[in-house]
Amino acid sequence: MALCGWCSSVRTMKGAFLILLITCGASSAKNNTSATCKPGNGPEVKAVTEGEALRLPCHRRFYNDESSAAFSWFREGTHVIQHSEDMHIHHHGAVLFFLPLHLNDTATYSCIWRPHPEQCVNFTFEVRVYKAKPLNRSVLWMDVEGHGSYLEILCPEDTGELCERGNGTLGWYKDSIHIPNMSEQILRVYSASNRDEGIYTCICTWKHSQKDFNTSASRRLIMTAPSASYPPIIKHPTSDTETAELGSSKTLVCAVFFGLNVKDFCDLWWEINGQIIRWENRYTENITREIKDNTTTYTAILTISSVSKEDFYSEFRCIAMNTQRWVNHTVTLKPRETIYTQIVVSSSVLLAFLMALVVFKYFIVDLSLLFRGVFKMRSPVDGKVYDAYVIYQRHDLEKAVEEKIDNFVGRLLPEVLEKKCGYRLFIHGRDDLPGEDHMELIETRMKLSRRLMVILTSGSEKGHEASANPEDYDRQVGLHQALVREELKVILIELEKMHCYSHLPQGLQHLILKSAPLRWEGKRPNSDSPNSRFWKRVRYMMPLPTAFRATPGVGETQFRYFI
Ligand SMILES: *[C@@H]1O[C@H](CO)[C@@H](O)[C@H](O)[C@H]1NC(C)=O
Ligand SMILES: *[C@@H]1O[C@H](CO)[C@@H](O)[C@H](O)[C@H]1NC(C)=O
Ligand SMILES: *[C@@H]1O[C@H](CO)[C@@H](O)[C@H](O)[C@H]1NC(C)=O
Ligand SMILES: *[C@@H]1O[C@H](CO)[C@@H](O)[C@H](O)[C@H]1NC(C)=O
Ligand SMILES: *[C@@H]1O[C@H](CO)[C@@H](O)[C@H](O)[C@H]1NC(C)=O
Ligand SMILES: *[C@@H]1O[C@H](CO)[C@@H](O)[C@H](O)[C@H]1NC(C)=O
Ligand SMILES: *[C@@H]1O[C@H](CO)[C@@H](O)[C@H](O)[C@H]1NC(C)=O
Ligand SMILES: *[C@@H]1O[C@H](CO)[C@@H](O)[C@H](O)[C@H]1NC(C)=O
Ligand SMILES: *[C@@H]1O[C@H](CO)[C@@H](O)[C@H](O)[C@H]1NC(C)=O
Ligand SMILES: *[C@@H]1O[C@H](CO)[C@@H](O)[C@H](O)[C@H]1NC(C)=O
Ligand SMILES: *[C@@H]1O[C@H](CO)[C@@H](O)[C@H](O)[C@H]1NC(C)=O
Repeated sequence: MALCGWCSSVRTMKGAFLILLITCGASSAKNNTSATCKPGNGPEVKAVTEGEALRLPCHRRFYNDESSAAFSWFREGTHVIQHSEDMHIHHHGAVLFFLPLHLNDTATYSCIWRPHPEQCVNFTFEVRVYKAKPLNRSVLWMDVEGHGSYLEILCPEDTGELCERGNGTLGWYKDSIHIPNMSEQILRVYSASNRDEGIYTCICTWKHSQKDFNTSASRRLIMTAPSASYPPIIKHPTSDTETAELGSSKTLVCAVFFGLNVKDFCDLWWEINGQIIRWENRYTENITREIKDNTTTYTAILTISSVSKEDFYSEFRCIAMNTQRWVNHTVTLKPRETIYTQIVVSSSVLLAFLMALVVFKYFIVDLSLLFRGVFKMRSPVDGKVYDAYVIYQRHDLEKAVEEKIDNFVGRLLPEVLEKKCGYRLFIHGRDDLPGEDHMELIETRMKLSRRLMVILTSGSEKGHEASANPEDYDRQVGLHQALVREELKVILIELEKMHCYSHLPQGLQHLILKSAPLRWEGKRPNSDSPNSRFWKRVRYMMPLPTAFRATPGVGETQFRYFI
């Protein structure tokens, strides 16, 4: 059922179309006077002044067709307008007369032109009548704008032509004041200045049936600022590259100064790789014109909705042109530094810093010794006499260890540090005299020393018995100085690899924890050279050499004498 109904309705619709077409064809063929006419114009507005006359031709083509019978006139579409001169509104053929205009003549007037029975054209006019005084702006014709010394004001067509064709006389008025001896359709203003601004009216006085009538037209003269055109100046962009982030949006702004009050043709646009921007999804362009403080600036904003990789290889060119010149500026995009590149950069900086630190640490000994040598650095006078006070275990030692100590303390230390480096050491067993009061001697000597050098051996300590040994006492005093009063810096040297320090006094163990002992590796060649690795490290830990460099023997004697 439903299907059938649909089919039948389509059929009836087709039928209706056919009937319509046939009717249309018939109506154009038939002679039917009441058929609607083709419009000949959009409704044309006539703004006119009360008291003046209006001569209104149906069309410029029929300006003088005052006797043709093909025209009929209607007010508001229906009211027939007569030929009679008695009426203040009447028509002669194609021309409608208002002699003169009344305020209540404001209406729609239509002129029906029927040159052939089949042809009909409908011209309509909206006549709006305004009071003469004060002058209503609506009656003004288009403004005249200009600058410069010479200007022309043209009497609008309706009035000018009326006077010329109708043998009328034309007069010019500025702000209702007559301008003498001016009767041409064009009013020429020489040496124009701002004082010439105002409303200019041309009045045509013409005759109809021996009676004088006036028809006027007014327009305003506006003096504009003189315009000055320059070659375009691209104010922005100023740089050749801009940063953008892949996938995010980016706007490129091109701002161009074109001159002052520019009237000339000028234009601005963006191109990508020499191609004008097609309004693809990713690119949009917005061009705006701005006149501020008389300067003319154009701005073209190119928006990339989502920056892609190819944009980083593209050339974005802003082109500006006027009648004087074409200029352009090219911009390329470069990727903005992401967080990853920042991480890479900062971590390599950190790495370089660490490497510098390692290198510095490794060569600190050499550098510092080099410094001392180059700048001849010497320790300040501090009232001390010895550079180092050397303590070591002298008793209860195994034979091999004793030999080692003898070799190191008795031979190498004086050889390298004293002879070659100019240090002065206090070494037990060499520098103390037998029978000297130990306690006092040791304490005084230590106070006169800048360093405490402790030679560590794995020698067997014999428990509490050892505490009675003089060198043990040395240790106690020295450690007391070093630990409690922190007056003495300690240099720890072990003569062999020691696996455990538990046999050593507590204080010494504490010092070993604070800084690892230097290991003496005696088997190497150059072991008695001050420039071997071991001695360099010892020298580094030693104070600066003193300015006073006497031979140890002499110094020793003097010192002993001195105390
Ligand atoms: C059409 O009408 C006009 C008058 O308006 C008449 O003169 C003319 O003869 C008519 N033509 C026909 C074909 O009827
Ligand atoms: C003219 O057309 C109208 C409808 O537009 C119609 O009523 C009238 O009968 C027609 N006259 C003639 C003579 O065909
Ligand atoms: C002419 O046009 C006017 C305005 O559109 C309308 O009022 C009038 O009826 C038209 N006259 C004819 C004969 O078509
Ligand atoms: C229109 O105004 C004039 C005077 O201005 C008057 O004589 C005339 O009767 C008025 N016509 C109508 C239709 O009101
Ligand atoms: C101009 O005419 C319109 C319509 O008649 C009126 O509303 C307006 O007030 C008039 N302006 C002046 C300045 O007279
Ligand atoms: C204008 O004047 C000329 C002669 O001076 C005359 O031939 C012409 O008909 C006149 N035109 C009108 C519209 O009065
Ligand atoms: C206007 O023209 C008349 C005669 O052509 C002349 O006498 C008069 O001086 C002129 N007036 C002016 C203001 O130029
Ligand atoms: C035409 O206008 C002029 C100037 O305004 C005036 O002197 C004259 O009387 C007017 N004539 C008519 C018929 O209104
Ligand atoms: C713009 O031009 C006008 C007309 O010449 C002038 O009066 C005005 O002072 C100018 N404005 C600026 C900001 O220069
Ligand atoms: C172009 O820019 C102007 C001013 O910035 C703005 O008002 C306008 O909406 C923009 N037009 C488009 C299509 O984005
Ligand atoms: C851009 O300007 C340079 C000179 O500044 C010119 O050589 C080049 O041809 C211009 N390019 C375009 C596309 O106008």
